Amino acid sequence: MAGDAEIALTFPLSDANIPMDDDRYDHVRAVQWRGDHLRLLDQRLLPREERWIDCRNAAEVTQAIRDLAVRGAPAIGIAAAWGVVLAARQGTPLDAALGMLRAARPTAVNLMWALDRMKARAEAGAEAASLEREAQAIQDEDLAANRRMGALGAALIAPHSGVLTHCNTGSLATAGYGTALGVIRAGVAAQRIDHVYACETRPWLQGARLTMWELLRDGIDAQLIADSAAAFLMHSGAVQWVVVGADRIAANGDTANKIGTYQLAVVARHHGVKFMVVAPASTVDMHTGSGADIEIELRDAGELLGVGGVRTVVEGARAWNPVFDVTPAGLIDVMVTERGVIERPDGQSMQAAFGR
Ligand code: MRU
Repeated sequence: MAGDAEIALTFPLSDANIPMDDDRYDHVRAVQWRGDHLRLLDQRLLPREERWIDCRNAAEVTQAIRDLAVRGAPAIGIAAAWGVVLAARQGTPLDAALGMLRAARPTAVNLMWALDRMKARAEAGAEAASLEREAQAIQDEDLAANRRMGALGAALIAPHSGVLTHCNTGSLATAGYGTALGVIRAGVAAQRIDHVYACETRPWLQGARLTMWELLRDGIDAQLIADSAAAFLMHSGAVQWVVVGADRIAANGDTANKIGTYQLAVVARHHGVKFMVVAPASTVDMHTGSGADIEIELRDAGELLGVGGVRTVVEGARAWNPVFDVTPAGLIDVMVTERGVIERPDGQSMQAAFGR
C-alpha cells in the first residue's frame, strides 16, 4: 500500500508511446456495478460457460471472493469496494462488513488496500452515494493504471520477442486490460511480441481456462504449455521475457504471486531470460518488510486431488496446496507499476518509489 512518490523512469518516455488499438483489445468487464447490485462473471465456469452472478449484499460478495468466482488481486479489491457500498446501502454495520470482506482471502493486499480506502471515506462521514463514487474511482483508476503499465512494460521488450506468462492477469483479474496481460496486449499491438506462451497454472488452471480464453477473444495467437514445460521452453530460446503479475509486493521488492511463479523466476535466471513483474501501486505493501512476512493462502487439498470434480488420486492420499509463492527481489529484473519502471528492485529503490 504505497505512498504517492513519483518513480524516476529508467528509459525514455517516448518509448512508451505505443499506439493501441483499443477497439480490437480488451472487451471483457468481469466486475460490473449495476446500480443496486454487483454483477460478476463466474470465473470458475469459464471457458465452458459464461454465467453471471448477482451479489446483493456484502456476504454474497465475500463468498464470491472466497470461492474464486471473482479472482485476481485488483479484481477482488474492486469487488470488495462494491461490497462495502452494498453494506452501506442496506444499513449493514460497516465494521462487520469490512471484517468479513477482509477475511475472504489473505494474500492479495489489493483487497485490504481497497477496504482501507473505503473505510477512510466512511469514517470521514461519506454516505452510500459518496462510497459508490469511491468504489467507481478505485475501478476506474485500476483500468487507467493497467493501460499505462501496458505501454511502459511493452516498451522494454525488443521487437519480435517471445514471452511466457503465468496464471491470469488480464481483464478478468482487474478492472480491464490487465497487468502482465496488459503488457502482452500492448506488446503484441506494437509488434514487439511475436509469440505468447501461457502456463496452464495448476490446480485452478487460470492460465489454461482464463488467459487462453482472453487472448483468443482478442485474436492474439498463444500457445498453452504444461507448467512443467517452462524450463524446456526457456532452454529452447523461444522466450526472452517471463511477464507476471503480483498479489503483494513487500517493502524489499519480494513478490508474492500465483504458485509456480518462483520456479519460473529461478529457471529464467538460469537461462538468461528476463523476468518482469507488472502490478499497480495498490499491490505494493510497504508495511510488509519482506516476503517472509506475507501470509500465503493454503487452500483445500481436495483442489489437487481431482480434476473437474473427478477424483484422480487414490483415496486416502494427502496433498499440500499453497496457492501463492514468493519470488525474491533478487530474481526480478524489472518491476512495472503505473508510476514507472524499477530495475532490479530492492529495499532502497522501493523506499524511494513508495516510501512515506
Ligand atoms: O488465486 P488467484 O487466481 O486470485 O491468483 C491470481 C494471481 O496470482 C495473479 O497473478 C495476480 O493476482 C495478479 S492479477 C492482475
